[in-house]
Amino acid sequence: MYSNLEQIQSGSFSTVYKAWCSTLNKYVALKVIPKQKYTETGIMNEFKIMKALGTKHPNICSMIDYYEDDNNYVLVLEYCECGDLYDFLSIVKRQGSISHPALIQLDFIKIVHQLISALEYAHGLGIAHRDIKPENILLTKEGNIKLADWGHATLNRISNDFNIGTDNYRAPETFGCLNGHDTIKCDAWGVGVTLFYLMFGQCPFRNAEIPSNDGDLYDFGKGKHGKTAKCANFQQFLIDPYGFIYRYFLEPIVCIHQGRPYTAGDGKPSLYVWQDMVNIYQIFYVCRIIVDNLATIDADDRSLSRSLVLFDKVWNYNSNFNQGITAQDIKEFNADGDNNNNRTMDNASSMKSNMANASMERKQIIGKSS
Ligand SMILES: Nc1ncnc2c1ncn2[C@@H]1O[C@H](COP(=O)(O)OP(=O)(O)OP(=O)(O)O)[C@@H](O)[C@H]1O
Ligand SMILES: [Mg+2]
Repeated sequence: MYSNLEQIQSGSFSTVYKAWCSTLNKYVALKVIPKQKYTETGIMNEFKIMKALGTKHPNICSMIDYYEDDNNYVLVLEYCECGDLYDFLSIVKRQGSISHPALIQLDFIKIVHQLISALEYAHGLGIAHRDIKPENILLTKEGNIKLADWGHATLNRISNDFNIGTDNYRAPETFGCLNGHDTIKCDAWGVGVTLFYLMFGQCPFRNAEIPSNDGDLYDFGKGKHGKTAKCANFQQFLIDPYGFIYRYFLEPIVCIHQGRPYTAGDGKPSLYVWQDMVNIYQIFYVCRIIVDNLATIDADDRSLSRSLVLFDKVWNYNSNFNQGITAQDIKEFNADGDNNNNRTMDNASSMKSNMANASMERKQIIGKSS
């Protein structure tokens, strides 16, 4: 029934093949999980979650079938011709240089819409993904995305699992939290870090862990996280999120934009900018939305739907951005529907003025994670 197997990826738990399915007359992906590497409970979790997700949502990679033999569990999945976003971006990055950022053909706002739509659908069914990252976002040849790899997903809204997901993308409270953490809010953090990766080719922190002293678990969002983060970048982010994002991601782009030389330290941020995000202000605002509504330390402040409304506003103001933004535009933008002062958009210079002088750990922290 399945022939012409071609290996796509081999990870720590599974090997994924492209295969021809003669009954369906199309290619499928076979996710083959050796029985000795995975418990039956583990695979049953992925199977049950995929079954619950069904085949209706266009941006969720659906399960077509499932079988097992003596040695393997096999999930038969919709095949996505263009692989995952991480690999796609790696190819693009190789084509760019520090002074000539590569331009990508993908449509950022469309990807944001599709990713949030897929997640909100899952969340509506009570399912949290728990491993949002570019490696788990697949691309079709039409340029659409499909969210995949539901191996870590859960139906538990509150969890005490402190070791699930991928460090670069994990919300701070998943490293330890007083009363468990809200798994759906953790997905929003993962989306925030993923969007930074998609824009800049780099994750902002190696991990968002704040080690507990004397074995205490931490309390988040109540101003009680006055401890020192493990990762220097994350510590900078905790002290001054806008300043950190400006220095880490935006300053190099501003230099290039203004024709000024940019000399990076050891590890340098990858510089490449989306084609549909041509104006520097637009990039600033997108960062601001991520910092305020997705990758924000207080889980209660995270909201996928609110971010989407704000992203749309940025794109709707596209024509203004392209002609150069005015003070009036900013005023209108802020007045237009966003009633929370903390989340209003600011102008670019205020983001810049938030810059602190502390030195940064400018290390490449990218690397495909399993
Ligand atoms: N349906 C698919 N179509 C095309 N490629 C796929 C498909 N499913 C998975 N892949 C590729 O295989 C990789 C691994 O798949 P997946 O993430 O589901 O497995 P995994 O065992 O969780 O891997 P890892 O441990 O690396 O996260 C994906 O990152 C993607 O590149
Ligand atoms: Mg994966």
